[in-house]
Amino acid sequence: MIVSVKCCGLEGLRGYTVAAEADVSKGFPSFEIVGLPDSSVKESKARVRSAAQSSGFNFPDARRIVLNLAPTGLKKAGPSYDLPIALGILAGDGKLRRYIFENTAFTGELSLDGSIKRVDGILPMVIHAKNEGFSRFVLPYENRNEAALIGGIDIIPVRSLKECCDYINGRYPIPPYVNTAQNAESADMLPDFIDVKGQEEVKRAMLIAAAGMHNILLSGPPGTGKTMMAKRLPSILPPMTFEECIEVTEIYSVAGLIKDSSALISRRPFRNPHHTISNAAMAGGGRIPRPGEVSLSHNGILFLDEFPEFSRDVLEELRQPLEDREITISRVNGTMTYPANIMLVASMNPCPCGYFGYSDKCSCSQNKIIKYRNKISGPLLDRIDIQVEAAGIDYNKLSADAKGESSQSMREKVLKAHEIQAQRYKNSAFSYNSRLDAAGVEKFCRLGQNEKRFMERAFNSLSLSARAYHKILKTARTAADLDGSENINVSHIAEALSLRSFDRNKV
Ligand SMILES: Nc1ncnc2c1ncn2[C@@H]1O[C@H](COP(=O)(O)OP(=O)(O)OP(=O)(O)O)[C@@H](O)[C@H]1O
Ligand SMILES: [Mg+2]
Repeated sequence: MIVSVKCCGLEGLRGYTVAAEADVSKGFPSFEIVGLPDSSVKESKARVRSAAQSSGFNFPDARRIVLNLAPTGLKKAGPSYDLPIALGILAGDGKLRRYIFENTAFTGELSLDGSIKRVDGILPMVIHAKNEGFSRFVLPYENRNEAALIGGIDIIPVRSLKECCDYINGRYPIPPYVNTAQNAESADMLPDFIDVKGQEEVKRAMLIAAAGMHNILLSGPPGTGKTMMAKRLPSILPPMTFEECIEVTEIYSVAGLIKDSSALISRRPFRNPHHTISNAAMAGGGRIPRPGEVSLSHNGILFLDEFPEFSRDVLEELRQPLEDREITISRVNGTMTYPANIMLVASMNPCPCGYFGYSDKCSCSQNKIIKYRNKISGPLLDRIDIQVEAAGIDYNKLSADAKGESSQSMREKVLKAHEIQAQRYKNSAFSYNSRLDAAGVEKFCRLGQNEKRFMERAFNSLSLSARAYHKILKTARTAADLDGSENINVSHIAEALSLRSFDRNKV
């Protein structure tokens, strides 16, 4: 008799329905799994047999068992098929009631003792099952909070194969799980800009960056607070919308990074990978391609400290996601696309020793400096709207009691600017000034006669590139939004020009 137990496979963040079809019949005793299982799925045979026996079932070893994972064209990987396979066989052997298999999806990894372990990627699976019209999802107890984020489908958490079978047979009722845990994450727990003394220009640049979600590069000598300030940037970004939280949580779910019970990631990601990071860890990769740092930073910040120390390959890999806002990874198993809508924050010294242009301590040759800066290619630099210098601060400012502007006050300004942009771009494909394309710049960053003349003079005297010209207009648009000004004025353009330190300070 053939039984079909539904479960869910994943391709990147996209779920698809898989049916574990079990045929348990008389014949030569055997146990076969077909339907493009990879080695990790084939291993489930051993786990399923032991788990069934440990749970008090006689495994039908004397029968012919064929287990087909349909659709057969897609490769199945990972241990999440254990539970559906076990249920298919037990039901095929007449041990389970069957009515439940119509509208219920199942997933879970089995231990030899019959307990059910968490699986990665539960959130996109549940979203898929809900969209497909399943009314119930039976899944590992440890995944319950993550799964319960999605309404409109009953979440049935189970701890063991025995518990799951008792539930199916009506001996052990399990009410649908509701997540009552409140999420305690809030911006108040983040480090605050109030601790930063002086550096008003850099703080202003960061305010503009956050207001328009512009990429930003901080450069300056050692110990001037670049890292300190970059780490404070998350504290001035507005909270994510619920949809954004779900997007981020899905990525972390697939990456297997949701271990605790709070489940929903409500704080904007801030990723700070070390400069020795590999290409695969940055972009995503592995046998079953997992999201890399660019995707783990989705809707948040990717902070690359000591920017020129990253390998050139890793930096070049960033060009595509910075343009397309998603990253495509090609592997033998197929091509996957993960979202990567990030704000890039980078910090660097002006030269290898760190003091060029700031102190006569610098002993770097011009060649060495050029080589150091050339590690960051022109096209990559072009994708960074704002470049600002964090110069040394004098003793008086550092030792003064005066407090700088707090993160809360900065965040309120950012929020207002975001609201203005949401209103302006409500019928277009953009959400922030930094995301405007050439046509968008033309439409939304119009200049008056005075402003045009001013821009022309700057363009010629600084010999700007066409791309730099657009960046300056976008940054000026954000400066105007922070001002609550509908028009871009000369002062906004001047401020945007002052935030292109690399265009001005050529070695
Ligand atoms: N403007 C500042 N206000 C208050 N403290 C500061 C400031 N600048 C630096 N500091 C102190 O100096 C420490 C080092 O700063 P930070 O690590 O941010 O420097 P950096 O500019 O990143 O240097 P490097 O170029 O070496 O990476 C900070 O942890 C902080 O204690
Ligand atoms: Mg630093």
